[in-house]
Amino acid sequence: MSAVEAFDTVDVIRAKRDGHELETAEIEWLIDAYTRGYVADEQMSAMTMAIFLNGMTRREIRDMTMAMIASGERMDFSGLGRPTSDKHSTGGVGDKITLPLMPLVASFGVAVPQLSGRGLGHTGGTLDKLESIPGWRAELTTDEMFAQLRDVGGVICAAGSGLAPADKKLYALRDITGTVEAIPLIASSIMSKKIAEGTGALVLDVKFGSGAFLQDIERSRELARTMVELGEDAGVATAALITNMNVPLGRTIGNANEVRESVEVLAGGGPADVRALTVALAREMLALAGVDDAEVEAALDDGRAMDTWRRAIRAQGGDPDAELPVAREQHVVTAERDGVLVAQEALPFGIAAWRLGAGRARKEDPVHHAAGVELHAKPGDEVRAGQPLFTLHADEPARFARALEAVEGAYRIGDPGDRIDDGGPLIADRIGR
Ligand code: URA
Repeated sequence: MSAVEAFDTVDVIRAKRDGHELETAEIEWLIDAYTRGYVADEQMSAMTMAIFLNGMTRREIRDMTMAMIASGERMDFSGLGRPTSDKHSTGGVGDKITLPLMPLVASFGVAVPQLSGRGLGHTGGTLDKLESIPGWRAELTTDEMFAQLRDVGGVICAAGSGLAPADKKLYALRDITGTVEAIPLIASSIMSKKIAEGTGALVLDVKFGSGAFLQDIERSRELARTMVELGEDAGVATAALITNMNVPLGRTIGNANEVRESVEVLAGGGPADVRALTVALAREMLALAGVDDAEVEAALDDGRAMDTWRRAIRAQGGDPDAELPVAREQHVVTAERDGVLVAQEALPFGIAAWRLGAGRARKEDPVHHAAGVELHAKPGDEVRAGQPLFTLHADEPARFARALEAVEGAYRIGDPGDRIDDGGPLIADRIGR
């Protein structure tokens, strides 16, 4: 610990509390001093609340992001000799898009270094989903990751703890101090990790709606604009799609069943919304990496993306042909009358899947790979009395009651011509150059 500190912590907190703009040197010092333990958690809690209440300017957010990047290592893919492009989603119910997207983009010769995490709460983690494939390994060394990017073209693996360690400490603090939902803090948190990861291009899938991290579309737009500016300021070609998370994405929520659905998309099929979002994000990732007019849909239909998927799964010890786990118990919910499904709210279905065992409440908890929800009808579909609407999958039947409680009132059968309550189009907006 340094004997002489450049600033007095309380002065810096007071400045932000009173609505002043912090100087670059103050922000750099604050993040460094917090990471090395000089600034205490209770002081940083006061600072994050002051930021939550008073906001930050574009310059302050950039300084904060750069300071968090400087707290750890920065990866460099320039030696690969080809462009790199990555995607980040703010998370949602049934969001398995990374799984088909990585091989799809990689099949066009653009390297995809997709460093991912595990899930906490009602949104699932990409690594949890892939770990339902027998033998598949999330933890790779940097050498293994580079080798896979060279040989296969894409990799989905665990982000090492060396990237933006300041963010890790700060995010854990925000989580217990009611300061997660501050846009300057969310934007700097996400972008510090993505910029440190070293990708040349980045597409952000910023969701709004009941199952999203930020429900309000205007707040999602503001977050997207802030992150796109941060990316551009750091020399990363960045764009964002603002996408609808009022209804679960696709027909599956859970781990193994989301992998099955992703493989359907890679085989040229799968639910229309999952395919459409995969294709839209792939086009953005490729265009930002300099590949225009790619025949993205053809790569799903003719097996090119599937070939890359199979090679990527094998490279990480997985067997792409292995049977995926199936839950011991099922509970089917049927339509009580003829009509049209007019509502299917994302958040309650995400909570149901979580209660069935697909997610974790504490980061140490294991997930049940086979647990989750399978949706047999989507909003707008006609249904007949007695027809299955959705199936709950769990290893322990005792979990069904709490899952059913979660979805009570979350779906509705109306009459033909009734308004479909799905919050509008899947892709609501695009932000970026
Ligand atoms: N995800 C992150 O990585 N950071 C946030 O602050 C919020 C979501």
